[in-house]
Amino acid sequence: MKVKFTNLYNLIQEKNKIFSKINFLIKNSKFVGGEDLLKFEKNFSKFIKAKYCVGVGNGTDALEMAVKSLGLPKNSEIIVPNNTWISTAEAVINNGFKVIFCDVNLNDYSICIQDLKKKINKKTSAIIPVHLYGNPSNMIEIKKMIGKKRIKIIEDCAQAHGTKILKQHVGTFGDIATFSFFPGKNLGAFGDGGAIITNSKNIYQKCLRLRNHGSLKKYDHKFSGRNSRLDTIQAAVLNIKLRSYKKTIKKRNFLANYYFKKLHKIGDLKFFNLNENNTHSFHQFVIRTNFRDKLAKHLSNRNIDTMIHYPYMLNELKFFKNFKKLKKSYGLGKKILSLPISEEHSIEEINYVCEEIKKFFSKNKIKSLN
Ligand SMILES: Cc1ncc(COP(=O)(O)O)c(C=O)c1O
Repeated sequence: MKVKFTNLYNLIQEKNKIFSKINFLIKNSKFVGGEDLLKFEKNFSKFIKAKYCVGVGNGTDALEMAVKSLGLPKNSEIIVPNNTWISTAEAVINNGFKVIFCDVNLNDYSICIQDLKKKINKKTSAIIPVHLYGNPSNMIEIKKMIGKKRIKIIEDCAQAHGTKILKQHVGTFGDIATFSFFPGKNLGAFGDGGAIITNSKNIYQKCLRLRNHGSLKKYDHKFSGRNSRLDTIQAAVLNIKLRSYKKTIKKRNFLANYYFKKLHKIGDLKFFNLNENNTHSFHQFVIRTNFRDKLAKHLSNRNIDTMIHYPYMLNELKFFKNFKKLKKSYGLGKKILSLPISEEHSIEEINYVCEEIKKFFSKNKIKSLN
């Protein structure tokens, strides 16, 4: 059996509807803006239960514009978790602020609250919690910690469409939030795409202009922005995919639970600690083991694809010139492994992955440490 990490074509649920919609848009030369974009912005904000949504070119631009929209003080610091995709830190640097890396928890890989407490100081102007792998960061504690301090929260929800804390969607706890619709994301477009979510009318209006050269309509430039719009075809595709997205989360949770059950007490495997107050969207199913490379090789030899998110912590990249060790995340990139999980995977495929993992640990006589 071959188990692909994801099969993007198989993930497309309503192919006929999507293909005929794209045909219609092409025939009618509807490529940028228009009804489909407005409809998606309305539908996505309704889904998240936020007031405003701005469709943009990708999740990286969304982050950069989100940081810019807040008008943060010059030379201030923005705190970013150490285990995330580079975009989160790029958004800070490209806006001229200093990035401060914060450690992550090993039980769910979210930003470490104890380390965050230590990193907040008078120069801190914002924090970017990342809801990595579809697991929510502890927004309740982060907000409590900030209290009345003038510190903004930008939620990076690129991997967390539909993730909730106490039934409230991530993306609605901070001042502004960003999403990615990169094809491999849980809610993926047919190319790059992203969105900004906020409950603030001021921030919303600023972001509408930021994505379109500082203007709302032709020649109405109020400041210099950029060209980063969610194009019409992507918006139309996302509108159709959003309709069945709740089913996607359900299937991913079902497969994740299967992994948890089958891999319980196997070798030295460590998992996410799930919080029953949260809804996880399982963008990734990540395991941790001291035998990661050997296990990945064993799975690859059995035709099972795996990935690593991410092989390097951000403060390990030379680019950031910040080699200060962070205790928990130090070397984490050598131990984590993402297993196949998506709504198109069958239980037979997931079962095959589990059986091969079990075989690996028993062949190598690695006993359960649990
Ligand atoms: C946590 C996180 N933030 C930001 C991004 C950037 O999104 P995009 O690829 O759409 O620019 C990604 C995408 O991989 C991501 O995983």
